Amino acid sequence: MADSVFSNLPAPKPDAILALMGKFRADERAEKIDLGVGVYRDAEGATPVMSSVKAAQEKLVSEEVTKTYVGPTGDKEFNALLAELALGESVEKERVASMQTPGGSGALRVLFELVNEARPGATVWVSNPTWANHIPMLKASGLSTQAYSYFDATSGDVRFDDMLASLNECPQGDVVLLHACCHNPTGANLDLDQWSQVGKLLVERGLLPFFDMAYQGFGDGFDEDAKGMRLVASMVPECVIALSCSKNFAVYRDRVGAAVVVAANSEEATLAMGQMGSIARRSYSMPPNHGAAIVKGVLQDPSLKADWIEELESMRLNMLNLRTSLANELRRLSNSDRFDFLAKHRGMFSRVGLTTEQVDWLRENRAIYMVGDSRINIAGLPADKIEYVASAIIDALANA
Ligand SMILES: Cc1ncc(COP(=O)(O)O)c(C=O)c1O
Repeated sequence: MADSVFSNLPAPKPDAILALMGKFRADERAEKIDLGVGVYRDAEGATPVMSSVKAAQEKLVSEEVTKTYVGPTGDKEFNALLAELALGESVEKERVASMQTPGGSGALRVLFELVNEARPGATVWVSNPTWANHIPMLKASGLSTQAYSYFDATSGDVRFDDMLASLNECPQGDVVLLHACCHNPTGANLDLDQWSQVGKLLVERGLLPFFDMAYQGFGDGFDEDAKGMRLVASMVPECVIALSCSKNFAVYRDRVGAAVVVAANSEEATLAMGQMGSIARRSYSMPPNHGAAIVKGVLQDPSLKADWIEELESMRLNMLNLRTSLANELRRLSNSDRFDFLAKHRGMFSRVGLTTEQVDWLRENRAIYMVGDSRINIAGLPADKIEYVASAIIDALANA
């Protein structure tokens, strides 16, 4: 008898973060702390619906008259609003193609496929390290990957000279994937002067910048976080941007995002939009619209938009306070500036700089969960547990 259809499937590779979540759930110790999962948490450890989002949702539910398809490229108004949020006035509007997608991941996948259609098998350079899903997605889209130098695990800084040296080696026509702000997993980011140097190099070498913008508003402020990307966009002839609303609107499960292309001219923007629509059509056909309609509702209502910015800002400041407190506590306990980089980092994540053994030790002996590369989610840190976590880190350094 022939083999059954699915018998030859390989077992999926275990996902480190999902496995960690499972272990955390099964842990019965009351003092357990989850610094692994990448969602924003408030002081109570909850990931609430933002009040501006809730208000826009209620309005949508009471006024919505149809749930018919939105078409492969989504809602035109939403697309324009999202492109404007990211790009501001940095490029001419007629050069921009923007398409609603299922989350930032949907945007990444559509844009990777678009790049692969334009330049089959092109090489995309990713930072070392990068978000765990980038390389699998790039490969699944038919692209090749290489890594550029990025993070110095000892100092917690960007290895900027090495980064420039790596990019200087990229053959003309290659693509460079850049975290627009709040680098995941390291938390280390470029300053504006460094962005300008990167932009210059991209132009000189004829490289295509590909921005992943998943945390706008989580770093230094909503517009501040887009400054580097906007500067580069204004310097280069073309670029692409994958936008996610999952974190900054806290609409994770509603799947809201946009794929944006800044083309050389309006004709090429039209071509890009057409191809993005075809890619959507042959993969998921049409994007979900509930979350996108809510985001549009927030952005189109000046009072809801002001509420949203205020809420986002308080989330950002909360993370910043946690960073500073943890860095201060570690400085006090270690009597050194070894962990000062935590206060300089921005966004939800930082890499603490522990070995796998130390990470395991913290989980087994102090019920503190972090990803194996010692990435922590700053927002997962309860304010009243900072001393506990800091002294556990010092103990791990001494004992593991
Ligand atoms: C760097 C980065 N890019 C993209 C995404 C995708 O976000 P979404 O949940 O909107 O698909 C994430 C989510 O964690 C991320 O960290």
